[in-house]
Amino acid sequence: MDKNIVVAIDGYSSCGKSTLAKALAKKLHFIYIDSGAMYRAVTLYFLRNNIDLTNHDQIAQALKNIHLNFHSRDYQTHILLNDEEVSDEIRLMPVTENVSSIAALHEVRVEMVKQQQRMGRSKNIIMDGRDIGTVVFPNAQVKLFMTADPKIRAERRYKEVVIKEPHISLEEVFESLAHRDYQDTTRAESPLTRAEDAIILDNTDLTPDEQLAFAISKVEPFLK
Ligand code: CDP
Repeated sequence: MDKNIVVAIDGYSSCGKSTLAKALAKKLHFIYIDSGAMYRAVTLYFLRNNIDLTNHDQIAQALKNIHLNFHSRDYQTHILLNDEEVSDEIRLMPVTENVSSIAALHEVRVEMVKQQQRMGRSKNIIMDGRDIGTVVFPNAQVKLFMTADPKIRAERRYKEVVIKEPHISLEEVFESLAHRDYQDTTRAESPLTRAEDAIILDNTDLTPDEQLAFAISKVEPFLK
């Protein structure tokens, strides 16, 4: 019987939130929900359909036409946009470059937060994103706020990106992360910020196993 434990992981772009969230979910048998994948899938739909970001009717109609579903295999995120598997396409640069503008829209946030809260009802979940501990689940039992040196973050992301988009340089990845962090922390609605009761986890010098052990020690008291 699930106790409805919520672990909220927020933080900057590419600081290892999803690596930690997946490992933690696997270890504890919790459900992992990647809220960023939802904003990315919405962005893909908006780009494909040339939605005008200043036109509220178009945005509202687009949101009505978007149906998102997760299916979980090996704790990897598989997201379906209107029944199409888009997990790989949402990680490519065109979506990455536009996602923070689209995630800043009021209508988009209201709809995503509603869906995220529904997914967390009466289950043990780990959700990562930017506003999980502040807005989506302000009563989460465990809140982590992750950070890491920006250069290290860019190097980590570059290694992932270059496999599929070899023309991209480390400098471009660094700039793109810095720009997204700026947009995410300065937007009017639900900006990325540490919840007062969130524990800071700086993983610049931590291995994945070390950060997992740290997180488990924070969740364990709630499992008893
Ligand atoms: O994996 P990465 O750190 O690159 O980002 P992500 O978690 O996939 O999120 C992509 C973008 O979605 C972020 O830069 C935010 O603009 C937006 N996002 C958000 O606004 N709120 C969330 N809860 C999650 C993501």
